[in-house]
Amino acid sequence: MTAHMKCFQFNKMKLLYLKIINRAFASVKTNNSSSYFVTTPIFYLNGVPHIGHLQSCLYADAFARINRLLGKEVIFSTGTDEHGLKVLQAAETNKLTPIDYCDEMSSTFEKAFKEANISYTHFIRTTNVKHKEMVQDFWCKLDKNGHISKGKYTGWYSVIEEAFVPTAQVKEVREGSQFKTVSIETGSPVERMEEENYVFCLPKFQNDLLYWLSKDVVKPLIFADDLKKWIEEGLTDLSISRPRTRCSWGVPVPNDETQVVYVWLDALVNYLTVGKNAAQSLEWPASCHVIGKDILKFHAIFWPAFLIAAGYEPPREIFCHSHWTVNYEKMSKSKGNVIDPKLLIDKYDVDGFRYFLLRASVPNSDTNYSETKIHRMLNAELCDTLGNLLSRSCAKSLNPQQIFPPFSHEAFCSLKETNIQHIIDSTSKLPETVKKHFLEGYFYKGIDSMLDCLRDTNAFVQHTKPWVLVKQQDTEAQQKLFTILHTVLEVLRICSLLLQPIIPTLTAKVLAKIGVSEMERSWQNIICFPSFHNLPNKLEGQPLNNDNIPLYERRKS
Ligand code: MSP
Repeated sequence: MTAHMKCFQFNKMKLLYLKIINRAFASVKTNNSSSYFVTTPIFYLNGVPHIGHLQSCLYADAFARINRLLGKEVIFSTGTDEHGLKVLQAAETNKLTPIDYCDEMSSTFEKAFKEANISYTHFIRTTNVKHKEMVQDFWCKLDKNGHISKGKYTGWYSVIEEAFVPTAQVKEVREGSQFKTVSIETGSPVERMEEENYVFCLPKFQNDLLYWLSKDVVKPLIFADDLKKWIEEGLTDLSISRPRTRCSWGVPVPNDETQVVYVWLDALVNYLTVGKNAAQSLEWPASCHVIGKDILKFHAIFWPAFLIAAGYEPPREIFCHSHWTVNYEKMSKSKGNVIDPKLLIDKYDVDGFRYFLLRASVPNSDTNYSETKIHRMLNAELCDTLGNLLSRSCAKSLNPQQIFPPFSHEAFCSLKETNIQHIIDSTSKLPETVKKHFLEGYFYKGIDSMLDCLRDTNAFVQHTKPWVLVKQQDTEAQQKLFTILHTVLEVLRICSLLLQPIIPTLTAKVLAKIGVSEMERSWQNIICFPSFHNLPNKLEGQPLNNDNIPLYERRKS
C-alpha cells in the first residue's frame, strides 16, 4: 500500500488522536521546541538497583545532556514505582511496613543514580500525595469520557510483571513433581484470578494507535514493527483496577473504596504528574520516554491509548533499548546473576562505567556482559587513545612552554605530506555526525566516529615525531611543532565537547587542562579549527592548566 493510500485510509477513520492534537495546538501550551522533557521508567522497589536499571537511566541522561548542550531547557524525570503486589510482598519479606520499606528502597535507587552522575531534575515517587491526586484526576477523565466500565475478570495474573496475561498466552510447565502455570512470553508464574474490576476498552483505540505509530514515534523502528503486529493481531479489554481485598497497596479508585487503581495505570501517570509540576503550565507531551524492551507494550500501546482516551496528546517519542544478559541469560534477581553498578563504579570510576554502558550496548539487540570486555575497552579507548593524546600534547617534554600553541599556515603547508588535512576535515565533520547519532540514541556510533579521529591523530603524532622537532632550535621546526600540537589540542577540544553527554567528569578534566573555560563548552563553541580558517581563537597562546594527567589510569586485570 502506498503512503498516500495509507494516509487516505487514516483520513477516513474517526481518530480521537487528531481531535486532541488540534485542540492541543489551539489552546493548551504544548511542549515547545526550546524545551525537552525526557523520562526513565520508574523502578520497582522489590530489589536493589542493577546495571539494567542504570542502562535506562544512562540513555535518558545522555539524551538530556546532548539536548542541554544544544541549548534546550531540559526536564528529566526518574523515580520509583511503589505500589502493587510485588512491592507489598517485598515489604512483608523484609518485615517492614510498605511505606517504611519504600522510603528505604527509594533512597537506595536515588543514591545509585547520583553515584552514576544521572542529571535528573525530578525524582518522583508514586506514593507522593500529588501523584495520587493526579492518578485520581486521570481516572475521572477516562470515566467522564466514557472509557471505563465495570466487569468481571477471569484469567491469569503475573505478580512479577504486575500484568494480566490472556489465557491463550499461558502454559503449564513441570517443576519437580509439581505443575505450575507460566506466561509463555516471559516464563513468569501466573495466578488464577476471578474478580470484579474496572475495564478499559482498549480495542476502541486500535486505529488511533496505528495512526500514532505511523508517525515513527517508536525507535528503533524494529520495535515499532513488533507493536504493529501485536495491534493488528487484535487488542483485548484491559482490567484497570484490583479489588482492595487482593491488593490494598495502591491508589483508591475515585468513588469506590473497594478498588485500587491497577499499578501500571498508576505508574504510567507519573509522567503526567512530573509534567504538571515541572512547569507553570502543563509540560506535555513528553519529548521522549526511554524504556527497556520488556515494557514496550505498556508504553506504546496502553499509555498512548489511555492518554488519547483522557484527552491528552500521546508522547512524541518512545526510545526502546534492549537488555544486558549474563552468560547469554536474562539478568534477574531470582537467578542471582545481577551486576551491581556500585562495584563497577568503584573499580572503573563513574565515567568508565558510563562509557562502557553507552559504548558497549546496542539499542536494537541484547548485549552480553563481560568483565574482560570492560577492561579491554576502557584501557584501549579512554587510556590509550584519549588519555594518551592528552598526555602527549601536554607533556613538558613536547610542550615545554605549557601553552595552547599557535597555528601557522606556513607550517601547515610543510606538513602537507602527512594526514593533517584529513584530520582537520574528518574532525570538522564530527559535530553533525555525532549530533545525529546521539539524538537517535546510537551513542556507540557517535563514539566510534570520534575514536576514528582520535586514533588518526595519535598516528599523526607518531608520524610527525614532535620529540625530534622539540630538540631543533630553528623557527621552522618550532612552528611545525606548534602546529602539530595545536592540531592535536583542537581535536581533543572538539571530541571532549562532544563527549560531554557520555563522560562529563573526564571531559571536564580535559577541557580544564587545555584551558577551555566552563562558559565555552556549549554547542555554539564547537567551531572547528578557527585558526586554520583565519578566525579569532582565544585559546592560542593561553597557558595550559597544571592539573594532573594521566586522564584515566590503566586498569589491571
Ligand atoms: N516499574 C516498571 C516501569 C514502570 S514505568 C511507568 C518496571 N520497573 S523495573 O524496575 O522492572 O525496570 C525498569 C527498567 O529497567 C526497564 O526499562 C527495564 O527494561 C530495565 N531493565 C531491567 N533489566 C534490564 C536488563 N537486564 N538490561 C537492560 N535494561 C533492563 O518495569
